[in-house]
Amino acid sequence: MTIATRATKTVPSPPTRGFWGNLSQFQTEPFRFLSDVSSQYGDIVKFRMGPIDFYFLNHPDYIKHILITNRKNYHRDRKFLAEATPFLGQGLLTTDDEVWARLRRIAQPVFHANQMANYAAMISEATAAYIKRWQVAANTNQVLNLKDEMLHLTLDIVAPTLFGANVTDEWQTFIHTVDVLQAEVARRLITPITLPLWVPTSGNLQTRQALQTLDRMVFAMIAAYRQQQKQEMNLMNALIQARDQATGDSLSDREIRDQILTLLVAGYETTASALSWLFYLLSQHPQVEEKLRCEVESMLGNEPPTYQDIPRMKYTRMVIQESLRLYPPIWIFARSPLQPDRLGDYEIPANTVVYISPLIMHRHPEFWSNPHEFKPERFDPALESTHSELAYIPFGTGARSCIGRNFAMMMMQLIIPKILQEYRFHLIPDFQVKHQFDITLHPQDGIYMQVESVG
Ligand code: HEM
Repeated sequence: MTIATRATKTVPSPPTRGFWGNLSQFQTEPFRFLSDVSSQYGDIVKFRMGPIDFYFLNHPDYIKHILITNRKNYHRDRKFLAEATPFLGQGLLTTDDEVWARLRRIAQPVFHANQMANYAAMISEATAAYIKRWQVAANTNQVLNLKDEMLHLTLDIVAPTLFGANVTDEWQTFIHTVDVLQAEVARRLITPITLPLWVPTSGNLQTRQALQTLDRMVFAMIAAYRQQQKQEMNLMNALIQARDQATGDSLSDREIRDQILTLLVAGYETTASALSWLFYLLSQHPQVEEKLRCEVESMLGNEPPTYQDIPRMKYTRMVIQESLRLYPPIWIFARSPLQPDRLGDYEIPANTVVYISPLIMHRHPEFWSNPHEFKPERFDPALESTHSELAYIPFGTGARSCIGRNFAMMMMQLIIPKILQEYRFHLIPDFQVKHQFDITLHPQDGIYMQVESVG
């Protein structure tokens, strides 16, 4: 497919009903709705939710055009900004143009590939310390909610590694509060008309209270770090040291709070979801799990995984890639065109919303054989890749792709072998995993597993 200017065609569209259009279909079963419209109407589909027109794009060429070639014409969409800004402030996820570029320049060095080795030892240590507690569960036949465990584990890693923070028991509150707020933002995103937070409804009062809790914790974290006067290579330090090139001004605590909250939330919850889905998939595919255990055993024996081991653990990487294909934690994201644009024969008007869904793209039958099958071998580096590069976008692509990609991959590459060295999980009988489509795709109510010690 080439993107060129030709006569305009009407973008295919499912029937829409009444004022709300396709809203209830999208709200109740987003995965089914998007899969159905893309298989029935093709790789570009227009639908409507209330007064807003949405263009759902599901082809690598379209993805390239929106996120790379013509990316300057596409901003974060207004609805996302309106609903996420009260929560995240002016952070990397909620800004565009110069403000965004400056924030990205400040944070980028912390995620540079040459910094990764420094974080690896901290990640391995935090993992080993955290998973010790599962021993009790293994000895006493307790059931673990893997989703909760992965949230704690990834927060235990991300908070000290990137922000120099000590994770105390109070962080349980942080996890809960982020969960509540994430669900609230996700609900607001698919509710065309929402009341601003200053309107004193009981829901808004709760949301405001949750925001105050987060603010209190993050400001305390900044104050504690300033007091220690450490000079570590981490995000907190980069933010505190950052100076405006023109004025020499440093960032205010409010600006630092916005970056920290954005990166914390974007960092631990996504990785926790990815790990939860991966262990769920392993529990359903014992032959893959055995192959993975063989790699861990032959490469590491009983030694903890290190940074140097990562390139050798090829199958581990393939399993992660395939798991991110089937269950990409950021399952959908949006942009809004500033100026009208053309995609091949189609016109995209300004101020509409463009949706791109890694979840649906990763299961497109034209680009993936047996797309719903869990088959890590598709990512075997020894075989020639059969998929188009942009049909696989768990971390997005282009200038606004995930800044934490290398860090997230490394976390998973160190956590998974360490867990396999010590434990085996068994999904409890008859447990039905449900999908929750919030900002992240995560297991609704968690994943309940029996844990067995293998050490
Ligand atoms: C498995 C884990 C992760 C997944 C699947 C993931 C996925 C994504 C995706 C798809 C985007 C692009 C969204 C868009 O284009 O609108 C993104 C952006 C972002 N991610 Fe991640 N992410 C993960 C881990 C992390 C980590 C560990 C961090 C930081 C510690 C992080 C921080 C961010 C930030 C700040 C952005 C916005 C970048 C920008 O707009 O410049 N992510 N992530």
